[in-house]
Amino acid sequence: MKLFVLFSTILVAVVLSQTTYLNDPLVTVRADGVPEKPVTVEHSRLLSFLLQLFPARFALKEARDLMHTAERAIALTFGLQSVENQLPKAGEPCPSVTIIYARGTYEIGNVGVLVGPGFFEAVKLATSATNSSVSVAVQGVEYAAIFPEYVKGGDRAGSQKMYSYPPSQSIQVPGARSATDFLPITRADDVSQALEVCPQTKVVMAGFSQGGQVVHNAAAQLPPATMAQVSSVVIFGDPLNGTAVAGAVPERVLVLCHESDIICQGSLFVPLSHMTYLADVGEAAEFVAKHL
Ligand SMILES: *[C@@H]1O[C@H](CO)[C@@H](O)[C@H](O)[C@H]1NC(C)=O
Ligand SMILES: *[C@@H]1O[C@H](CO)[C@@H](O)[C@H](O)[C@H]1NC(C)=O
Repeated sequence: MKLFVLFSTILVAVVLSQTTYLNDPLVTVRADGVPEKPVTVEHSRLLSFLLQLFPARFALKEARDLMHTAERAIALTFGLQSVENQLPKAGEPCPSVTIIYARGTYEIGNVGVLVGPGFFEAVKLATSATNSSVSVAVQGVEYAAIFPEYVKGGDRAGSQKMYSYPPSQSIQVPGARSATDFLPITRADDVSQALEVCPQTKVVMAGFSQGGQVVHNAAAQLPPATMAQVSSVVIFGDPLNGTAVAGAVPERVLVLCHESDIICQGSLFVPLSHMTYLADVGEAAEFVAKHL
């Protein structure tokens, strides 16, 4: 019932804002410390739209309904796809670039809507600018993306899903504190599968927020030989900002943290500047294209 009321409220807000935000000047100046950057018209509209959906600061612990409802409204209004399953499979044509992406806490689908879809679009644009036959595949990392896992340093299963491990063994993940942190080995991992099936594909490991923790954990567990093949690593709003991505060539790692984004210091509160990394997908895409 509570959810229904919240959702209805947001739907009304969506309809109302359809008429208002389109007439607003495009977002260029931000009051919360996000640098002013040129973004596409559509991204600019989405940014001003989401500023209406989220409060200036909220507790991540209680943000599940807020995030789900707001993200559904964003997906609906902007026609965004929050699920991507294009991991290369044996017998299918290989993509030139494979992005393995981990979404943020309480984002919907397997890539969310705040940063992922805009980032993928920007990478497609940036890579096709120099070579129109470059193809880009995207795989969202399947994991729960819930608050308790963020507190523990990033969902273990999600990290495991992204990395490689020997069969029939348990492995200890970074920062493991209890027996449950030793994971049984049950699934194929995304990064290794992409490189196994398509040795020529350029793998990009990327994540937003808790997805950044997932990237860090996965990188720490991947064999050095596999990490050496990773084309680039991009993390938006990284809770582990300042910590190197293990095994990655430092020049191939881009961590984007807005100055006022306290999630980049591991905060449990989310400022508005954590929700606006869509403003940085152009820069991130240029970085990816440069390292192919
Ligand atoms: C353009 O991309 C395709 C697909 O990745 C590749 O086979 C081709 O060699 C590239 N061409 C140039 C000029 O880099
Ligand atoms: C992120 O880390 C860099 C390097 O340690 C630091 O200069 C920067 O202030 C950090 N950003 C935030 C928002 O904490």
